[in-house]
Parts: sequence; C-alpha cells; structure tokens
Amino acid sequence: MKKLIFTIFGSTGDLTSRKLLPALSKLYKDNKIPKETKIICLGRKDLNTKSYLTYMNDESSAPLDLKTLEQIVEYHKIQITDKNDYNELKKIISKETDNQTKQLYYLAIGPELFFDVAQNINHSGLIEKANENQLIIFEKPFGHDLKSAKKINQMLWEFFDEKQIYRIDHYLGKEMIQNIMMVRFANRIFEEVWYNRTIKNVKIIVKETDGIFNRGGYYDQSGALKDMVQSHLIQMLSMVSMEVPLSYHSEDVKNEKVKAIENVSFDSNSFIFGQYEGYLNEDKVNKDSKTETFVFIKAFVNTPRFKGVPFYLMTGKKLDQKESVIIVEFEETSEQRKWNLPLSTNKLYIKIAPDDGVGLKFNSKVPGLTGDVQEVELEYCAACNAVGNLSEAYEKLLLEATESHKTLFTRWDEIELSWKLIEHIKEKQTDPIIYNDYKALQVLIKEKMDVKMP
Ligand SMILES: NC(=O)c1ccc[n+]([C@@H]2O[C@H](COP(=O)([O-])OP(=O)(O)OC[C@H]3O[C@@H](n4cnc5c(N)ncnc54)[C@H](OP(=O)(O)O)[C@@H]3O)[C@@H](O)[C@H]2O)c1
Repeated sequence: MKKLIFTIFGSTGDLTSRKLLPALSKLYKDNKIPKETKIICLGRKDLNTKSYLTYMNDESSAPLDLKTLEQIVEYHKIQITDKNDYNELKKIISKETDNQTKQLYYLAIGPELFFDVAQNINHSGLIEKANENQLIIFEKPFGHDLKSAKKINQMLWEFFDEKQIYRIDHYLGKEMIQNIMMVRFANRIFEEVWYNRTIKNVKIIVKETDGIFNRGGYYDQSGALKDMVQSHLIQMLSMVSMEVPLSYHSEDVKNEKVKAIENVSFDSNSFIFGQYEGYLNEDKVNKDSKTETFVFIKAFVNTPRFKGVPFYLMTGKKLDQKESVIIVEFEETSEQRKWNLPLSTNKLYIKIAPDDGVGLKFNSKVPGLTGDVQEVELEYCAACNAVGNLSEAYEKLLLEATESHKTLFTRWDEIELSWKLIEHIKEKQTDPIIYNDYKALQVLIKEKMDVKMP
C-alpha cells in the first residue's frame, strides 16, 4: 500500500478524540502506515482543520500528538446525512486517490445513522462494491437486538461486499485476547489438557469500578447484557472453547468460533441481574429503570471437548476493582481425590486488563524443614516484556484494517448467534437486585450457585 485515505464520519466525538486520533498518530509516527496518509475528518461543526484539532485536543482525556496530526489531518464540514454533500466529499477524496490508494471509511457514529451514511457512501460511488481497496468499518453496538442487527446487516450487504465490511469489537484488539489462541495451541502442556476431563470450570470476568458516566441515554437502553455479554464476553468464551482451526486464517478461525457459539446453552436458574445503587439518579436514565449493570450467568458449551464444563460469565459496573480476566480451573489430581488432600486446584489466568499477562497457580512445598504445601503462582507480565508500551487495541485494529486482515473483526454469523443467545437470556430476565458492594454479590453467587467468584 502506497497511500492511505482514512475518512472518519462522526469525527468530533469521544471515540475519535480518545481512541482514533491517538492510534492513527502513533501508527504514523512509528511508520506503520504510509508516509502518504491523509485523515479526512468529517463533522457538522463549523471548524477548520486548525480549530478542529484544538477542539479535539481540549476534548481528549490525554493530550493529542498535534505535531503529527497537523501533518495528516484535514477537517471538512459536511452534513453526513445529506446526499448532496457527498459530491463535494467525492471530489476531496478523488483528488488524493489513485488505484494504489487504500481507502478506509470509519463510522464513528451511532447505529441510527448507519443506514443514511452507508447509503450515501454507496450511491456517491465512494465505495464500489467488491473493490477491496475500499473498506468500511463499523463500531459496536451492531444493532440493539437481533432484529435491528439483521436489518443493519442486510443493508450493508446490499451496498458492500462482505470482504469490505469490518465490524469492530475492540476487545479483539487487546494483547491478551490475541494471546488466547497462542497460549492454547502453541503449548503442549495446555493443548494436552484443554478438555472436559481435565478442566473443572472456566470463569470469564470483566469487572469495572466506573459507573456509566454521561452515557445514560445509550446504556439505559442497553444494559450489561447487550453492552458487554453480547460482544466481549461471548467472543472470549468462543476463543477459549473453539476447536483447533484448520489454519489461522481469518475464515478458518471464525468457522471454529461460530461452531462453539452455536453450542452454547445456559442454566437459566443461575442468572443474577444487579443494578448499582444510585443508577436511577444518573443523567438520562429512566427513573424506574430495570436495566442491569451487573450480570452473572452459568453457561455450557455442548461440544465433545467441553460438554459439562461450567463457564461462569460475570460483568458489572461499580464493582470492587477494574479487572478483565479468564480463569481456567483444572480438576483435582487423582492423589488429591484419593487422600482428600487439602490442596488447591491448578488455575491458569489469562489477564487482559489492567495488567496483561498469564499466571499459573500450582501447589508447591513450603521451603524449609516442614513438609507443608502452599499454592504459588508463576507469572508472566506481557507489558513488562514488551519493547516500549503495549499497543492500544485501536492501534492494532486500525493497522489490521489497513492491511485488510480480518481475523480481529467479527463476522456476521458470530454477531447473529450472539444476539440469539442474548434473546434467550432476556426471555428469563428478572428485575435486578440493587447492590452497593461487590461482596454482597459474591455471597449471593456462592449461596445460589456454590461458586466462589474472585
Ligand atoms: N467512545 C467510545 O469509547 C466508544 C467505544 C466503543 C464504541 N463506541 C461507539 O462509537 C460510536 C461513536 O461514539 P462516540 O462516543 O464518539 O459518540 P459521541 O461522542 O456522541 O459522538 C458522536 C459523533 O456523531 C456525530 N453525530 C451525531 N448525530 C449526528 C447527526 N445527526 N448528523 C451528523 N453527525 C452526527 C457527532 O457530531 P456532533 O459533534 O456534531 O454532535 C459526533 O461526531 C457510538 O456508536 C458508540 O456506541 C464508542
């Protein structure tokens, strides 16, 4: 690729200031994207490139690399919902484009604008169907239920070829999510034991300490199930439980992930929904809202490999700590069972955030003259071993898209199946319990499901 034109719709929003511009300036500075890169930022605000960058810098939580961005960004005021404005946009982009130019169109806008913008992009000829140098990237949430997601997807297929469509789940750009397959398939010691005979249970946990900030309008319609489980948690579950893919090419990996998701079922008696105390006072939240900010679910993946192994999925806001982790707990040893020894079970930790890494807990003798045993941990810290800082998820995802690599983006059937699962859960959803303390939720889970969540 000689030249890159990266066009952002919704370029005055939070996602652009906090994620897209920092990622693009870093990629450019590190020479990961072409010298001839242009970022076309589109918005309805009355700004020019200079005042746009100043505005975005003020909006961003951390200072932007303005020196780099000034070299590559161009702001244009257009009404993205007005098809007439696309003639002007086409002229701007055509001026920069030859047949070696990669063109990426990034929709950093809410799904309610997807249809108009996608249609305008298509009708104006900015993207020609099947031209693989022209790609379109969509942000999560991909719909708000199965029906709306299907509608969006149908529309996309009308305008674009599947090869041109990139659906973002930014969790897939995270270092340790990418590492799940590596840990599983590149290590004999794990490959050998990745079965229901040896795995006792799997815990997939995403805990947050924050509330919903000013996202009440969106969050109250969504809740933890749609915001987190439908996307991030089901993606993680599929990567832990999938079979060995035929190859590590995108389609082969996705085929196996889909087969895993197809085999998921839930124990509906296990469901716990919670809402943090004070949620009803948040801005733009319905005063009698029943939206859940916490979910606990016991799931199963009914494949020969994993049949019978509980997968405990848990996510919530305003909990005790910020932590995303997958914990694979192994069965007791035969000696442990035979003698009823007071040993801990082995546990593999895939640590996603805030510390990226892998941990392995096992039993070892207490050093010294005693014969006592203790649980110890081997720990690998990915960030400590990286050259420079670990790259942000968006850096990785944008780079992958510029190189037309689709493995870290979700395919339609993954999204469709995930929405189906959410609809099953929703049928059995009960009113949330109010919590103000994670400990109370831990006790409830222990009493109800006899499982200790960390
Ligand atoms: N922020 C994140 O970290 C994050 C993470 C994952 C997914 N997402 C998703 O990404 C999308 C964008 O998120 P965001 O946080 O950047 O939202 P945001 O801060 O509300 O920004 C939305 C952008 O869309 C533009 N816009 C809204 N209505 C418009 C209209 N009728 N015509 C033209 N432009 C319009 C806004 O322009 P004005 O400035 O002119 O209003 C702004 O540039 C959402 O779907 C969100 O769910 C965001």
